[in-house]
Amino acid sequence: MKKIIFFLLGIVCCVSCSNESQVAVYEPIPMVIETPSNFPDIIYNLDNNPITQAGFELGKKLFYEGKLSSNNAIACAFCHEQAFAFTHHGHNLSHGVNGGIGFRNAQPIQNLAYQTSFMWDGSASHLDLQPIIPITSELEMGESLSNIIQKLSAEPYYQEQFTRAFNDGEINTENMLKALSQFMVAMVSSNSKYDKFIRNEDNVTFTALEANGLSTFETKCAGCHASSLFTDQTFRNNGLSINPQLNDLGRYNIGNNLNDLYKFKVPSLRNVEVSYPYMHDGRFTTLEAVLEFYNSGITDNGNVDESLLKDDGTYGIDLSDYEKESLIAFLKTLTDYEFLNDERFAEF
Ligand code: HEC
Ligand code: HEC
Repeated sequence: MKKIIFFLLGIVCCVSCSNESQVAVYEPIPMVIETPSNFPDIIYNLDNNPITQAGFELGKKLFYEGKLSSNNAIACAFCHEQAFAFTHHGHNLSHGVNGGIGFRNAQPIQNLAYQTSFMWDGSASHLDLQPIIPITSELEMGESLSNIIQKLSAEPYYQEQFTRAFNDGEINTENMLKALSQFMVAMVSSNSKYDKFIRNEDNVTFTALEANGLSTFETKCAGCHASSLFTDQTFRNNGLSINPQLNDLGRYNIGNNLNDLYKFKVPSLRNVEVSYPYMHDGRFTTLEAVLEFYNSGITDNGNVDESLLKDDGTYGIDLSDYEKESLIAFLKTLTDYEFLNDERFAEF
């Protein structure tokens, strides 16, 4: 008798198990994103789009999905490569579908949940809306949102995963953008040598060179590259000469305010060791070149940030050879190998 009961139980179990694998259900298992103790408060509104494991997995799949582009080959990850802090390695200006060359250098994807605006000129004010720009740009992914939804709807994987990730289970633009945000919000880089030093973790100490670099940084750079995000999140003109081919007006493009001419978002310097080339147009390949620019290359382009970049009537931040060397040693402590190698963010 006992044997029969076990046998029957076995059948019931098998039937229910196989049913489960066929019919996906909404699985709101939360994924907790803790704000590192040395970070400012999170800006992204998690109440409006709570991160779940299923939503994160879907967002990651979409981030690596070529079908988001017109030729089915250019995924977000094509221009945002993990090993280089999710920048487009080896490209000063990113190129996309049909070899079209864009006009800006790809930004890293890290700590976006703490950012107030996105893109070099702040043209995206909400993370959920940002992906529409590369997707619909002729030079980047060249695709329409409705075509993407059609392509994804045809695939059993996406039918199941949208069901797992969202209460209404629908494959639509809103849910696709929310999933991408869930993935990007989880991409937190906060475990560099600098972070461990600041948080007194793992007995991490700075060499004399690194410590001197930090103090030079604090006096000469942190006016703009401020806080543990290494940006004060404002738009500034740091005196780059105008590139005549691009003549990128920067923040001016957003509100046509002359005061914004050639201003760009102050970039974070986290993982800057690997995110070269540098500046909005990728004009510098090395950190040495960037420092030499601040020391001797600042150009009066008509709207330079004089409060921080003009001293005794001349433009520039004076840096001795030792200061340059120590600044570079310090900047390298911002490399977060855990983030750059984190398998949660890597392609499946
Ligand atoms: C063809 C290359 C390319 C592709 C493909 C691409 N990006 Fe980008 N991404 C860039 C460039 C270049 C910038 C800077 C653009 C600007 O400032 O005008 C950028 C900026 C961003 C930013 C702003 C980061 C910040 O700190 O403000 C986010 C977020 C982003 N991309 C996410 C994505 C997502 C998500 C996708 C896929 C839907 C994607 N990108 C596809 C090149 C690309
Ligand atoms: C007046 C504000 C300001 C000061 C002071 C300043 N920066 Fe910058 N920095 C910027 C802005 C704005 C950009 C982006 C400019 C652009 O691309 O048009 C930038 C870009 C950079 C970049 C390139 C990052 C990237 O991802 O492309 C590095 C590296 C950098 N700064 C390091 C420093 C260092 C080191 C100092 C001190 C010696 C310093 N900055 C001082 C505003 C400033």
